[in-house]
Amino acid sequence: MTFTDRDRAVQAAITQGLVGSGQPVAGLLDIAGIRRSAAELRAAFAEFTAPGTPVLHAFAVKAAALVPVLRLLAQEGIGCEVASPGELAVARAAGIPARDTVLDSPAKTRSELREALALGIAVNVDNHEELARIDRMMASAPSTAPIGLRVNPQIGGGSIGAMSTATDTSKFGIPLRDSGARDWVVRACLDRPWLTRLHAHVGSQGMPLERMAEGVRALYDLAEEINEQAGGRRITTLDIGGGLPVNFASDTVTPTYREYAAVLHAAVPGLFSGRYGLVTEFGRSLLAKHGMVLARVEYAKWAGGRPIAVTHAGAQVATRTVFAPAAWPIRVAAYDAAGRPKTGAPVPQDIAGPCCFAGDLVAENRPLPLLEAGDHTALLDTGAYYFSTHFAYNSLPRPGVYGYAAGPDGTVRFATVRTPQTLEELTAESGAAHADDLRDLALG
Ligand SMILES: Cc1ncc(COP(=O)(O)O)c(C=O)c1O
Repeated sequence: MTFTDRDRAVQAAITQGLVGSGQPVAGLLDIAGIRRSAAELRAAFAEFTAPGTPVLHAFAVKAAALVPVLRLLAQEGIGCEVASPGELAVARAAGIPARDTVLDSPAKTRSELREALALGIAVNVDNHEELARIDRMMASAPSTAPIGLRVNPQIGGGSIGAMSTATDTSKFGIPLRDSGARDWVVRACLDRPWLTRLHAHVGSQGMPLERMAEGVRALYDLAEEINEQAGGRRITTLDIGGGLPVNFASDTVTPTYREYAAVLHAAVPGLFSGRYGLVTEFGRSLLAKHGMVLARVEYAKWAGGRPIAVTHAGAQVATRTVFAPAAWPIRVAAYDAAGRPKTGAPVPQDIAGPCCFAGDLVAENRPLPLLEAGDHTALLDTGAYYFSTHFAYNSLPRPGVYGYAAGPDGTVRFATVRTPQTLEELTAESGAAHADDLRDLALG
């Protein structure tokens, strides 16, 4: 049997005690893989872009709000796209400079906007009311922060409704095809010399590349129209968002960044001409294939003739997979107690999590070598979003996350990315400091 780096990492995580009876679940990230994806992203756009064009690839922090990961990406020349004060704080803790940071969110508060403008972080304005706020702020305290307007080209959705941001009624951006909206956007840009960017993120996972390119084409055409009316370069930068889908069915990376850049180049050649600076905001495609959730099988049982492996990875780490399994199916790999790939004839079985509800299954009727107590499951392709969508139900702690580097001699070294949440931290989060407050209030 040939062992992959992933297999070696699983075995090392078990023998080194990162996963065991005390810590029955952990996240593992392949550092070399993350670096490779970052390099592929940069190379793909560099291949098509005119020399000297400013390009910022900003990682969507929502995909993995982990300080060491952001710092690793920064080393590879990748900045951050943030969508909340928490994500901005995480990016700043990673040392991401303001010039490499972009703020998007549909619900920015006044204080968030003020902070971003003061720091010089690029802001993508979502709607009319937010633009009015920025107008007032720019009048009282002018800022040189790059400011853009998010538009919704309303080109339609992809295969996952909840991930489709360019539907007619999406909550994001200015709906370009609504009556009068396009003229309003053009006027808004012509009236404000500081409004120099346009932004669109048309969806994530499940969007065909051609549809994504159609959204970028709409963004580009709008910029050209504004610049023509302005008689010069009013719009200087286009932020094309992220959204490259990930293949969750095998180890193959498809589509690739290069394929997407080529589709964009065919659909919107001017995008790469150097007329506009470019910003991208990829999240899932940078990390998904480089992470896994490794969990112990606590019990193996049968019900109604079906084998069920009760593991320690369920809805608390694989929230979307458990609640929307058709949209977010994941691969599960089976390992034995020592972390060796498990062999044996595949037997359809349920892979259950630890949560107290019947639907807490990461895979149903999945053919795998029959799992036994003490074995392990690895949920594959879970490097993006699975460590940032923790579900606090049943007070299950957030698991530790570790980066690994496999040496040519087969040894695996780990670095801590996030320490496992302790029960003390969990209790504190659950209001331990206020234990008496309700009783005291009731007593008057
Ligand atoms: C504005 C924005 N940019 C970028 C992303 C990242 O998308 P993905 O992880 O699919 O690349 C998202 C995802 O929700 C987003 O909302």
